[in-house]
Amino acid sequence: MSADQPFPPGFLWGTATSAYQIEGSPLADGAGPGIWHGFSHRPGAVVNGDTGDRACDHYRRLPADLDLMAELGLTAYRFSVAWGRVLPNGTGRVNAKGLDFYQRLVDGLLERGIQPMLTLYHWDLPEALEARGGWLNPDSARWFADYAAMLYEALDDRVGLWVTLNEPWVSTVLGYLSGEHAPGRRSLAEPPRVAHHQLCAHGEAVAAYRELGRHQIGISLNLEPQHPATDSPLDWEAAKRRHHFINRWFLDPLLRGQYPDELAVIFGSNWPRFPVEDLRRIAAPLDFLGINYYSRGLIRHDPTQIPCAATRITPPERRLTAMDWEVYPEGLTETLLWVKQRYGDLPLYITENGAAFDDAAPVGNQVQDPDRVDYLRTHLAAARAALEQGVDLRGYFAWSLLDNFEWAEGYAKRFGLVHVDHATQRRTLKASAQYYRDFILEGELTGEKRK
Ligand code: FCB
Repeated sequence: MSADQPFPPGFLWGTATSAYQIEGSPLADGAGPGIWHGFSHRPGAVVNGDTGDRACDHYRRLPADLDLMAELGLTAYRFSVAWGRVLPNGTGRVNAKGLDFYQRLVDGLLERGIQPMLTLYHWDLPEALEARGGWLNPDSARWFADYAAMLYEALDDRVGLWVTLNEPWVSTVLGYLSGEHAPGRRSLAEPPRVAHHQLCAHGEAVAAYRELGRHQIGISLNLEPQHPATDSPLDWEAAKRRHHFINRWFLDPLLRGQYPDELAVIFGSNWPRFPVEDLRRIAAPLDFLGINYYSRGLIRHDPTQIPCAATRITPPERRLTAMDWEVYPEGLTETLLWVKQRYGDLPLYITENGAAFDDAAPVGNQVQDPDRVDYLRTHLAAARAALEQGVDLRGYFAWSLLDNFEWAEGYAKRFGLVHVDHATQRRTLKASAQYYRDFILEGELTGEKRK
């Protein structure tokens, strides 16, 4: 790759969002509530009692937000569908008005030359399905595949990239082990079953896509290197356990057809025997893998921490984001190379990468966010380094387009390239948005012009 052609032709430049984090109007036009609606309204569940009731009001400001994406020069946009908006009961009857919103979104993107990447599940299960046991119910795989099939029929003529699940590790561990996310359960026995059912749902949705779809389908996983905090053998062992737990729990069954043996050790008697037939279906070939990368884990041995006896420390001497996540761009290259080396050549997308910082309020039309500019610059260089070492990377999606509802952190943490004043909903491009726009445009100047 020559210096004046830093990324290959056709490389996608996007931003990513998710439905509950930006849309607002969770019950509008006949939508059924999702689990995040109930969870965020529980006292104490979210910082400052924030909810997604208004979020970025994207549901009502769609045309203006589409224009904003065009202004940024994006060639792709990753969003998620709120399951309950299109199927208020989770299964069965389609809500035409909810589906119409996503039709308008997809059409609006295509009119602006922006390729849609649609995520089917970004953590907001319909409440009606939670009432039937949610992801603990083995029927969830069928519910999900039917929902997916309905969307393939409605949108596959215009959507070329489909993502089944976003970060099932996070929705399993934070939703069912630590209870920090919806549905807020704390159990050691449930996570292995929930993860398995989500993987089965993924497998069934891929199988349905092979019948109904004509483009590409994959999954987005959160991956990060796990490094020992010291040279002590105990910390080394702890870092290895966390690595199996975070990086291999989902990738091994998806791409090698079996769970890592180490998980049975980590979960002990809570690790069930899973049917071989399920694993065969989970390992259905993927068209691409989406990787969400934010930081690395710096790990200490800690027997009080279940189930890994490992804890992630915050290194005070390193640069941290507002989430207290270390800024560690090298880890992106390391992760991409590790995936290639362990799982072979599979087209990859960075489906999320970004950082929260305590940005200053806008002054006039400007928001200076030098830390985020630096984060973007160094992570883009890290992505490029992986490309130069032969990784088949096809695109990059910055998290996130807008400052939005950051789950249990509410609106306190700002990840956007575009600043949102949550009282007035005014949008202001941050310096990082301008940096990203110029970066994308420069690609065009060097002969990678998009149509
Ligand atoms: C990821 C989530 C995304 C956002 C970022 C900061 O884990 O997929 O919704 O919250 O973290």
